[in-house]
Amino acid sequence: MTTKHRCRKCGAPPVINMPQHRLALCAEHFPQWIVEQTERFIRKYHMFTHEDRLLAAVSGGKDSLSLWDILWQLGYTVDGLYISLGIDDGTGYSAESQAKADQFAAQRNLKLIVVDVPALYGESIPQMTQRSQRSKGKPCSVCGLVKRRIMDQIARDNGYDVLVTGHNLDDEAATLLANTLIWDADRILRQQPVLEAHHPALRRKAKPLFRFYEREMAAYALLRKIDYIYDECPYAEGTRSIFFKQLLNRLETVQPGAKLKFYLSFLQARESGLFNITAEGITDENMSIGAGGKPLYTCPSCGQPTIVPGLCAFCRLVG
Ligand code: AMP
Ligand code: FES
Ligand code: ZN
Ligand code: ZN
Repeated sequence: MTTKHRCRKCGAPPVINMPQHRLALCAEHFPQWIVEQTERFIRKYHMFTHEDRLLAAVSGGKDSLSLWDILWQLGYTVDGLYISLGIDDGTGYSAESQAKADQFAAQRNLKLIVVDVPALYGESIPQMTQRSQRSKGKPCSVCGLVKRRIMDQIARDNGYDVLVTGHNLDDEAATLLANTLIWDADRILRQQPVLEAHHPALRRKAKPLFRFYEREMAAYALLRKIDYIYDECPYAEGTRSIFFKQLLNRLETVQPGAKLKFYLSFLQARESGLFNITAEGITDENMSIGAGGKPLYTCPSCGQPTIVPGLCAFCRLVG
């Protein structure tokens, strides 16, 4: 850090400089700023209130544990959910990440719900992947499907009002870039900081960290002494999402603030009606409309929403 930067609040040497905000902050004021900003975003985007019961999906990584820490400091009623995927492959990834989540909850006396996928379904995520059509050998797509389903189901069955996840700006901008390059309208329309429950079996979903850069969350976790799993999932290497994150980081070095601007301009474009949608194909009053304006059907086996009539993708996978 060069000497021209000083903490804007107290003038002390800063721990972080955020060129996109023209803001540098010290070790004391940076974590406070993150907490205050999160509260501001929760209100600005109408994510939830102090009356709501929140369920934070925690992976044992820096973002989701930091999110739980922030919401806890802000006095929200928030329990955690850890999904054990059975990803071990000699790395001990699932066991280690669960240990981080367990330890975090125990230190703060918070409730953590643990769902063990191999114990519940008789197969780990890599095993399910082997017999699935969804992916070309990589478990990420099956993993995403199973995680989303378990999150929805636990939130619904345990009476939570809102499900919160630790997605940061780097995650959201990379997803947006991937979807925009092929103009995947359905996915683009579903990408929102807050996604209302479009079906009786769903709960509202919110991403309170969506405006923070990944490096800011890493700095926050470090300063708050949050013990998280540093390693990525062993299957993350070489994924499209990492590639797009790297591309955006290259853009950011020549154009500070580009990542944030890309995502916020998307939200503005949506506000101003660029993506106005009409509900098509609603033929039955019991059908719901999804975020993309398409009808949502109800899976006859599990009661969860599905975009095609009949068994949902999850029931086809585990059924
Ligand atoms: P990812 O899809 O791995 O980028 O993770 C995005 C968000 O999903 C994280 O910030 C967590 O909130 C949640 N998440 C990811 N993995 C798990 C897990 N194993 N158990 C619970 N929540 C998870
Ligand atoms: Fe699901 Fe890596 S965390 S495949
Ligand atoms: Zn300061
Ligand atoms: Zn189903």
